[in-house]
Formats: sequence, C-alpha cells, structure tokens
Amino acid sequence: MNEPLVKAEVHGRVALLTLNRPKALNALNNELIAELYALLKKYDADNEIGCIVLTGNEKAFAAGADIGAMKDWTYHDVSSQDYLGGQWEELRRFRKPIIAAVAGYALGGGCELAMLCDFIIAADSARFGQPEIKLGVIPGFGGTQRLPRAVGKAKAMDLILTSRMMNAEEAERSGLVSRVVPADKLIEEALEAATVISSMSLPSVLMAKECVNRAFESSLEEGLLFERRNFHGLFATDDQKEGMRAFVEKRKPEFKHR
Ligand code: CAA
Repeated sequence: MNEPLVKAEVHGRVALLTLNRPKALNALNNELIAELYALLKKYDADNEIGCIVLTGNEKAFAAGADIGAMKDWTYHDVSSQDYLGGQWEELRRFRKPIIAAVAGYALGGGCELAMLCDFIIAADSARFGQPEIKLGVIPGFGGTQRLPRAVGKAKAMDLILTSRMMNAEEAERSGLVSRVVPADKLIEEALEAATVISSMSLPSVLMAKECVNRAFESSLEEGLLFERRNFHGLFATDDQKEGMRAFVEKRKPEFKHR
C-alpha cells in the first residue's frame, strides 16, 4: 500500500496532520491537496476534535506547488480547471481552528498554505518566502493577498518581487507568525496550544475564529455588529452558564461543547 501523502494522528481532542512527501520537500500536488482536504473535512465534522495542527518535517513545511507537475501546463490547462481555485479556497472555510506548525521551508504555495491556517507557530529553523517570480509566475494560492494583510505592503512587495526568504525571527517581528520556538520543541508547543484551545467551549472557539476572520472581510461597523450578535448568542449555550458559574465558584469549568 502507498504511504499516505498526509499522515493523521489524534492526541486527545487534537488532530495532528503531517504532510508526507519528504523527498519532494512536501511539494503540493493535486493528490496531496485532495488528501489534506479530505482529512480536514473529516476532523472539522468530528465532535471529538476541537483543534487541528498542520505540520511538515524538519526540512520543509512545504516548498511550494509541485513545479515538476506544473512545468508543461498551458494557460488553457490551468485556467479551464481553475487550478486549485475551488478546493484551495474551500480549505479556509473549515470552522475548527487550524494551527500551522512550520519548520524549515514554507515557500510559495507552502507559505500560502501556512497563511490559510488560523495562526502560525514557527520553529527557529523556519524560512518563509514567495519565490514564484523566479519561475516566471506569481503567487497563485493567495500570497499577493494574504501576505500584505499579515506583514504590510512594504515587506510583502519586497518578498514577492525579490523572491528573498525571511527567517523565523523576521517573520515574527513582522506579524506573520505568532511565536517562534526551538525546532525540537515545535510539535510539543503546537500540540500544547491546540490542547488549550480544544479544552475551551467549542461554540466560543468557532465564533471567536469567525469573528476574527470577519475583521478582514468587513467594515468595522459591520464587524462590531457581527461580534456583538455572536457574543449575545453565546448566552444561549450551556457552556456560558458553566464557564461563568465555575469562575464564581472558584473551580475549573467542565465544558460540554454546546
Ligand atoms: N516542486 C517540486 N519539487 C520540489 C519543489 C517544488 N516546489 N521544491 C523542492 N523540490 C524537490 C527538488 O526537485 C528535489 O528533488 P530531487 O531530489 O528529485 O532532485 C528535492 O525536492 C529536494 O530539493 P533540493 O535538492 O532543491 O533541496 P535544497 O536543499 O538544495 O533546496 C529549496 C531547497 C531552496 C527549497 C529548493 O528546493 C527550492 O528552491 N524549491 C522550490 C521553491 C519554489 O520555487 N517554490 C514555489 C513553487 S511555485 C508555487 O508555489 C506556485 C503558487 O503559488 C501556486
């Protein structure tokens, strides 16, 4: 039997997904994206899972879309099938939080995949970049849109136009990653963060994610209203009663995720 292109393990209420094309530095081909999509769909729908961690290996999170597969494609090939337009954008519609745990290279589509996640924890070995310009193309999985939102126009232009990579320290300074940890602690730290998230009330977690994402899609006025209505809505959950009562009674809450 062939090795899966994405391995899955469950740790408590956390699903750990590991990209598994090490010989090609986890280059993203259609088969890998399809396996990733299927696993994310499965765990997103699983009530026993509260958070997902997506990682690669020590050398690469992913070194981009598969250049070997793309090299002979024509404009007609990519545009007629809207190359990864549909399924790729579906990846961001999952409701459970997804943490990217990045060591080594996160380049091109690999950097774009990390940016599709809800936040990035980087190993000190991580290197981020959008080097597509060197191949005679541009980022095609959201890099020209998500990178400037994450790091600002100046740094995004610099990275995309020159193709230079940035290290973990620069990525943290510029807001692309939430924290940098020693490479040998990456999975431990990411699982720990995911375990904390998955111990929170799931309805609050889902709404918090939706509200933060809404900040990038709407005016402040609309975003604030969206937040307020969802805040109100959470008072209909058992977990709001449990969370607030537990605080007053000076004990740990036991959330039922409803
Ligand atoms: N696609 C296909 N294969 C890739 C790959 C990619 N994106 N990146 C690396 N590989 C393969 C290499 O061909 C090599 O395979 P072989 O052993 O069979 O020759 C193997 O992975 C190891 O790579 P290197 O020998 O090049 O390793 P290195 O340590 O010398 O260099 C690297 C590492 C700097 C990351 C270099 O591999 C590299 O520059 N990779 C390409 C990065 C890139 O341009 N990414 C953007 C892709 S386009 C894209 O993503 C489009 C989009 O936005 C939609």
